Amino acid sequence: MIYHEKEIQKANNIISELSKETQKSQYRLKYHFMAPTGWINDPNGLVFYKGEYHIFYQHDPYSPEWGPMHWGHAKSRDLVNWDHLPIALAPSEEYDYGTVNDHGCFSGSAIVNNDHLYLFYTGHSIEKDPVQVQCVATSQDGVNFKKYEGNPIINDFPKDGTKDFRDPKVWKYEEFFYMIVGSKKEGIGKALLYQSKDLYEWKYVGVVAESDGTQGDMWECPDLFSLDNKDVLIISPMYGTKNEKPFYTIGNMSYKTKQFTQGLVNTLDYGSDFYAPQTFVDDKNRRIMIAWMDMWFSHRPSQKEGWAGAMTFPRELKVIDNKLYQVPVDEIETLRENLKDFQSFQYENEYMIDPQLSVSSEIHIVYDIAQSTSNEFGLFVRSSEDGHERTKIIIDIMKQEVLVDRNLSGTGEKSVSRAPVSFVNGRLELRILLDTTSIELFINGGEQVITKRIFPNLNSNLCKLFASAGKMKIEDLKVWSIKKVID
Ligand code: FRU
Repeated sequence: MIYHEKEIQKANNIISELSKETQKSQYRLKYHFMAPTGWINDPNGLVFYKGEYHIFYQHDPYSPEWGPMHWGHAKSRDLVNWDHLPIALAPSEEYDYGTVNDHGCFSGSAIVNNDHLYLFYTGHSIEKDPVQVQCVATSQDGVNFKKYEGNPIINDFPKDGTKDFRDPKVWKYEEFFYMIVGSKKEGIGKALLYQSKDLYEWKYVGVVAESDGTQGDMWECPDLFSLDNKDVLIISPMYGTKNEKPFYTIGNMSYKTKQFTQGLVNTLDYGSDFYAPQTFVDDKNRRIMIAWMDMWFSHRPSQKEGWAGAMTFPRELKVIDNKLYQVPVDEIETLRENLKDFQSFQYENEYMIDPQLSVSSEIHIVYDIAQSTSNEFGLFVRSSEDGHERTKIIIDIMKQEVLVDRNLSGTGEKSVSRAPVSFVNGRLELRILLDTTSIELFINGGEQVITKRIFPNLNSNLCKLFASAGKMKIEDLKVWSIKKVID
């Protein structure tokens, strides 16, 4: 334990030393959560505890590259203003520490029981056997965490898994606690289920769900929950060493047979910078999801400026007509200012929304497709005046697709992300969240989402509509700037 406190102190010191410089980075976002400095990946331990939201995250405070994993920590009363807290977990014990880089406190989840906050995580070190084990740490004040002396609470993988055995997500159902852990065996990604009465002693139950052979050979960060009378499983899959877009399936969880039966399967977010989402429920009974707004092997220009990685804006989930919908939590409205309300109008070719739109802004557009004649239309955002740099959102009526094209979005990767779209009642609704280095596009009330990081020049802020060969009828268009709340 002494080691844990020492390692936490060391990490906190380096954060206060490095964060001032990091904060000057041109790439820092204005309302998306980031670490004060260093590297972040998955959100961990999302929880509402004693009236406050807590976010933990995979973090290397020492470097802008992935390294020994700590759990960074922050809390909030409203999901938009975050206070950074001391590091919650640092690698320190034989089960989560190693001498080579590849070790630490890997991803996991949180649960509140008897007023205490419990963090479940995977202890990882490639120098030991088994490499990955499940551990717990607890806190009474939501700030200082003590690793359990009896760790690891699950000290080996079961017969249905292999040494890739990580990312425990814990919840309560009736009188038992359950934990699912991501794993793999013989090329099949699996979610393994455990059961406990006291959160310390866990009994292996079996494979609760697995890949049908096409859904990844390793399942990371499984999340299983019920919402709107349906059961939802979210998986971040790997194919070989490649991570792919997380998917969800709406099916049926039987606590009698301890089996989840998959139903419809869908991509959770069609963008290239969305991974390891995690959900939790708050005091308003909302199911909220936050994901890492980045991806393994993405190009990260901000690393030159001492940091990498951010979180998506928190999204509320709903099941509608057997599909999972995602919308930014309502709290975003508290950050809106300078509304420009264009209401309804028609345009041809191009229509200027703003030559100098704020780098952080929100755009709502409702297209009346039935009364329009263009088959390819959309918007340029974060565009330079000459249009040489720009991010393009394209709606292709014939292909029934929405595209986000970042081939000209500045430094960073060049790619196009596509999502299928349907035009319900001859309408299409887009909601776009722009921040210094990100775009999140919510299509038709969040039925589809595309999340991407972009790295344009800070002065590229022109925003205009375009329509090829035809007229467009806009039913409604509103634009806000979004206040800066994060450093
Ligand atoms: C997902 C993941 C997890 C693991 C963590 C390590 O992005 O690979 O499976 O616990 O990141 O940082």
